Amino acid sequence: MAMLFEETDINGMTLRNRTIRSATWEGMCESDGRPTDKLINCYRNLAKGGVGLIVTGFAFVRPEGQAMPGKMGIHTDDFALEMEKLTRAVHDVGGKICIQLVHAGGQTESKIIGQQPLAPSAVKVDQFPETPVELSKGDINTIITAFGKGAHRAKAWGFDAVQIHGAHGYLINQFLSPLINRRTDEYGGSTANRSRFLLEVYRNVRTNVGSDYPVLIKLNASDNLKGGLETDDAMYAAEKLSEEGIDAIEVSAGTPASGAMNPARRKINVPEKEAYNLDLALRVKEVVECPVMTVGGFRSYEVAAKTIQEDGMDYIAMSRPFIREPDLPKRWFQGDRKPAQCISCNSCFGPGLKEGGIYCVVEKKARAKAAKV
Ligand SMILES: Cc1cc2nc3c(=O)[nH]c(=O)nc-3n(C[C@H](O)[C@H](O)[C@H](O)COP(=O)(O)O)c2cc1C
Repeated sequence: MAMLFEETDINGMTLRNRTIRSATWEGMCESDGRPTDKLINCYRNLAKGGVGLIVTGFAFVRPEGQAMPGKMGIHTDDFALEMEKLTRAVHDVGGKICIQLVHAGGQTESKIIGQQPLAPSAVKVDQFPETPVELSKGDINTIITAFGKGAHRAKAWGFDAVQIHGAHGYLINQFLSPLINRRTDEYGGSTANRSRFLLEVYRNVRTNVGSDYPVLIKLNASDNLKGGLETDDAMYAAEKLSEEGIDAIEVSAGTPASGAMNPARRKINVPEKEAYNLDLALRVKEVVECPVMTVGGFRSYEVAAKTIQEDGMDYIAMSRPFIREPDLPKRWFQGDRKPAQCISCNSCFGPGLKEGGIYCVVEKKARAKAAKV
């Protein structure tokens, strides 16, 4: 029987346990995407805290693919020094780190990227702040190449793996979604056509890093949105990726337009609300050969352990609990099995936008109150 705390291997990358820090935008980079010492310290702390694998916040592969301020960039060779310092900091304390590669497509704003956003089709949907410009075939090729170049840099800079961001409404997810992708060429229409961009990105990444380097994907198995990506389409894409050699699939769901069913749901305060994408992950697991990771709402040791031991998931991923407790896996491993303290309020986004980096606002308030008493 698989156990939460046991060593595993993903294409040569040894992980000390089955917990993953799911990609989490930290808002700690310079405005051009250059990593800062604050970000490097954040990853060092996560690695010290015992997580099996850290997935970085999403890193843009092209300047017009940036979605949020303070986001990391992997679009240029200029950040080599900082990136190498970052991976070294994690490795020095026994951690493993994977970088998430993204293009925001239409899910960004001209005030952030300095031009009108690009998307599969020029349609204004709820999750887009403005009407995007339709990508030409030339643009599509440029972006595919940029994913590959990003992966090449990541490997050269010491990252242990790359993860392609195919979830949460960003560009790859936009191509998969029939709501957003209205193209009539080979990139639109049938499920196979809507999956084409993703598969071409995967192949370019694979060519750039070789067969013996872990390439992962975070994939929406549903957009939780009328007219959006449905599970059957996602399963088709997952099966193809598995056939072509992807090393692991992290299953997520939702977009910023999915209301209460968005990727980071609120008020996960009872075990029944935890593991909210597990059913989707189990469906994906049915059609793939590679390991499957499930993310969304894990808060208690019991649910995390059961998901591995009884439900047959290969890894459980968490984001918000690590913002408050970077050492959560170590705490559980050492026998303190109290649930994560995160109350899933999403207040952590605020300081990422306004104060140069995310942190747990609830914890800070509690500390301030305690200091006054
Ligand atoms: C502050 C914040 C930043 C996030 N940034 C990313 C990101 O860069 N890439 C990504 O795939 N998901 C991102 N997410 C979503 C999480 O990875 C995760 O899928 C979601 O929060 C559900 O997991 P949780 O309940 O453990 O937080 C972010 C979530 C939060 C709260």
